[in-house]
Amino acid sequence: MSFTTPPEVLLRQSIRACSSLRWGPKFCATGGQRSTRSYRAAVCTKLGDPLVIKEFPHPAKLKETEVLIATHATGINFADILTCKGLYQDRRRTPFTPGGEIAGKIIEVGSEVNNLKTGDRVFVLSFGKVTGGAADLCVADATSVFPVPKNLNLVDAAGTIVSYGTAMLALATKARLKKGEKVLITAAAGATGLAAVDIAKNVFDCQVIAVCGGEEKCKFLKERGADMTIDYSKDKIRDKVKELIKGQGVDVVMDQVGGDTLLDCIKSLAFEGRALTVGYASGNIPNVPANQLLLKSASLIGVFWGSYAQADPATFKKSISQVLQALTENKIKPYVGKTFPLDQINEAYQYVLDRKSVGKVVLKIKEED
Ligand SMILES: NC(=O)c1ccc[n+]([C@@H]2O[C@H](COP(=O)([O-])OP(=O)(O)OC[C@H]3O[C@@H](n4cnc5c(N)ncnc54)[C@H](OP(=O)(O)O)[C@@H]3O)[C@@H](O)[C@H]2O)c1
Repeated sequence: MSFTTPPEVLLRQSIRACSSLRWGPKFCATGGQRSTRSYRAAVCTKLGDPLVIKEFPHPAKLKETEVLIATHATGINFADILTCKGLYQDRRRTPFTPGGEIAGKIIEVGSEVNNLKTGDRVFVLSFGKVTGGAADLCVADATSVFPVPKNLNLVDAAGTIVSYGTAMLALATKARLKKGEKVLITAAAGATGLAAVDIAKNVFDCQVIAVCGGEEKCKFLKERGADMTIDYSKDKIRDKVKELIKGQGVDVVMDQVGGDTLLDCIKSLAFEGRALTVGYASGNIPNVPANQLLLKSASLIGVFWGSYAQADPATFKKSISQVLQALTENKIKPYVGKTFPLDQINEAYQYVLDRKSVGKVVLKIKEED
């Protein structure tokens, strides 16, 4: 399994600026046949062109370790959008169906799959593997399938694992967050930031300062449990942190924005503080002056959740198990800010690119009964 997120953000700004990358219809060939039934899938036929919805015959026979899933919902990740535009580091050959974060129900299992059965509600992580989730059906290897807790609907499930897995790995394993610590989280109303707010507050019982752009997002973050908020479109983070926590520094920073925001956050660290660099939504990777870390005996820690799938599968699975446990115990509550139907996938991608989203954006493909 290959997840490759951070470098794509460097391209965010150039994508937004590029008007020639708007979507529009195109068609492609179909795969093998199993029956006369058909299913719909969004297809990228040419990198940079709009996706098109095509009808396909049911997938060809499953391999022994595969499962066939009726897709109920698919989370949208920035990597999907860039992949379709040909701007992601892992170039895919067309035609393909995007969507790596899927929730649905198993409708068939391969002959060697013993731990899953028809009807199971599952999450699937299929980035770059087998078929994509922007379709009524998808095929996945059983090793990339996880059970969905009973208390989570499949739309929320499709918007959970990537953002919460990243935030859990970052805060629990990399920063070794402790109860009661002060945590500063940037892009806090975005998918990853909001998951971090939820985990820091409700799993670790920390004091959370959520940083975001705009008053409405600040209000929303307070409702979601943030103790304090900073609107960085208005206030300087460092000054506002000082004011909010009376001259002290924060123990942990989790930054999704990069650029001056990360530099400003590092200046807000306490003695022995830990700063996590998780994303560069600003499109800017900053050079961090090492002396700012030295002066406070602080640490700067890189986090690339997807890379753990191959480099350290045990830690990767642990991050997912910790999320599933917190979900089962009702400690955390994923938030899907907006859903789009499959045939509006191009509009959904544009919505994310336009920075309109709060929490996760999900394609809702099939109602859950
Ligand atoms: N390292 C990892 O393993 C990993 C995993 C998942 C995601 N990521 C990365 O983390 C970042 C956030 O991901 P996400 O899924 O939370 O994204 P998202 O839901 O789209 O949120 C991104 C937020 O970043 C903020 N932002 C600040 N400056 C921005 C700019 N110049 N352009 C666009 N947005 C800007 C915006 O919030 P405001 O309006 O409030 O500023 C925006 O809503 C991305 O760069 C993503 O690639 C990394």
